[in-house]
Amino acid sequence: MNRTKHKQAELILAGGLIIDPASKLNKIGDIYIGEGKILKIETKKLIPKHKIKFSHEILNLYGKIITPGLIDMHTHLREPGREDEETIYTGSISAVTGGFTNICCMPNTQPPIDNQESVKFIYEKAKTARCKIYSIAAATKGLKGEELTEIADIVKAGAVAISDDGRPIYNSAIMRYALEYSKMYDIPVISHCEDLSLSADGVMNEGYISTLLGLRGIPGVAEEVMVAREIRLAEFTGARIHIAHVSTEGSVNLIREAKRKKLKITCETTPHHFSLTDEALKTFDTNAKVNPPLRTKRDVEALKKGLKDGTIDCIATDHAPHSIEEKDVEFDAAPFGLVGLETALGLVITELIEKNILPWTEAVAKLTVNPSRILKLNAGEIKIDMPADLTVIDPDIMWTVDPEEFKSKSKNSPFGGEKLKGKAYLTIVEGKIMHQL
Ligand code: DOR
Repeated sequence: MNRTKHKQAELILAGGLIIDPASKLNKIGDIYIGEGKILKIETKKLIPKHKIKFSHEILNLYGKIITPGLIDMHTHLREPGREDEETIYTGSISAVTGGFTNICCMPNTQPPIDNQESVKFIYEKAKTARCKIYSIAAATKGLKGEELTEIADIVKAGAVAISDDGRPIYNSAIMRYALEYSKMYDIPVISHCEDLSLSADGVMNEGYISTLLGLRGIPGVAEEVMVAREIRLAEFTGARIHIAHVSTEGSVNLIREAKRKKLKITCETTPHHFSLTDEALKTFDTNAKVNPPLRTKRDVEALKKGLKDGTIDCIATDHAPHSIEEKDVEFDAAPFGLVGLETALGLVITELIEKNILPWTEAVAKLTVNPSRILKLNAGEIKIDMPADLTVIDPDIMWTVDPEEFKSKSKNSPFGGEKLKGKAYLTIVEGKIMHQL
């Protein structure tokens, strides 16, 4: 045991099951934290239980799981512009409550984050946030899909990726140039795959349920056509492309094939896309109106298969706050989006781990080291000298989702009343406890 390091420790997490996919660690151990960093990971000589009892800085985590701090690579905060729905600060509180220590915010604010100054604004605001915030900047000015942003400038200001998320980059030549520039800076382009001529004015998945409800449909092929285009463009440019919120069987199959060819394609799906189907819309619940839309059982099965075989690299929330006034309208008029930071972990545990779709290590990887590697963050691993960003999970707690209790400013969740297993017990950001159950 290294005594100097022990002395410096300001906080010791004792006796938790440490799951770190990067180092393949899956063992009960003690983690020593000091000066915001991980000082030591001890899995052999554990602190005796009686010592834990009488110490302030030694936390008894027997029965809990310690993972690298969860990373959400797809969050919508509404600052600037719609601070009534979410600010960077309130979003960060929602994040730590859900177990996230690092979140990446999308640029579709009002105005959009499409230049160096606005990226700097995000990082300035992030200084007072409860978790770490990274900016994903717009790929095109004003998210209009017409003219590229100054990619060199926004990367210099700290943007970790570019994306017009919320909208596709519709013009293939613009997408090509976005990929070519992003390649120079080794950042990914995150693509919202939607052929607007096919999705048109649809409001939910096109299929049996949309026919039943008399609502206009968005066919799965609207996503798949663009996934196919992105794969070809990635192959052509050799650039890195990340497909956001994959929702259909066809998309999973295309991406699987692209990965077989060793193309630089990565992708994510969301907890709502693997937990719900378009049946959730039978009550016309506008909180389940999301883009891409909730799909069919067959699509959900394909997403689970893609998560299992590694086709889908990441799980991201697509946390999209909307006000009650905006959502409490007829289905056609409501905006797309749902809040997800505070239900993501419970859904992963309940729907994927408990149902034997993914083992813990795989599920944790998709929420930590995988997004970190895609975005090149200094995060997602439990390693000596790394920032002590850690999530402690109570894997057994049963709880019922009540959106009124969310820390997010917005309550637009279709999971109200849902019984979930597992929750963030402690969220630690650079050694500081930012959330405690
Ligand atoms: O449902 C969605 N809401 N999908 C998106 O792509 C954007 C998001 C939002 O910003 O509200």
